[in-house]
Amino acid sequence: MTDRASVAILISGRGSNMQSLVRATQVPGFPARIVGVISNKPDAAGLDFARSLGLPTAVVQLKSHPDKDAADAAITRQLEDWGAEWVCLAGFMRVLSAGFTRRWQGRLLNIHPSLLPKYKGLDTHQRALDAGDTEHGCTVHQVIPELDEGPVISQVRVPIFPGDDAETLAARVLIEEHKLYPAALAKAIRESRSGD
Ligand code: GRF
Repeated sequence: MTDRASVAILISGRGSNMQSLVRATQVPGFPARIVGVISNKPDAAGLDFARSLGLPTAVVQLKSHPDKDAADAAITRQLEDWGAEWVCLAGFMRVLSAGFTRRWQGRLLNIHPSLLPKYKGLDTHQRALDAGDTEHGCTVHQVIPELDEGPVISQVRVPIFPGDDAETLAARVLIEEHKLYPAALAKAIRESRSGD
């Protein structure tokens, strides 16, 4: 058995968090390696980055399957083919089935751009601004069937400044996301091993 955990990443779009995870695995001592990237969108920009590094990629579209359970089963088959032990959702914009989350329970992580349990769902930056919050942030958590719930692994706070709009705030949070996700993944892997 390799001493680096095998991790697959699920994306839907630009994949900047995927890139930060891939880069982290290139640092000696990081406890994971990336075994593949799956997108539910064939035109996801992140796929080009993954391919440029020679990483295995796959596209699994809901519309190519009779229902969500069948699409998610196809994702699981691909993940198992790659030998994935952990799955990181990185801007994967489709809610996964309960069967999928059960299959990967404890090994399925997500990054969300808010200080959960605040602002589950979409438009988190605008909602934090509209609420008059003075701080915002991002969270890496275990995925359970309920959207954006599940045990928190790590969070980072960022200040909200006067004059911020959703775009400036999103950019400040994203910088922290790129540091948080690799650190949270490494933490989750190490904690799971210490419990072995
Ligand atoms: C990030 O803000 C992430 O927190 C959220 O979706 C966005 C994905 O961005 N879940 P990217 O595709 O990783 O650049």
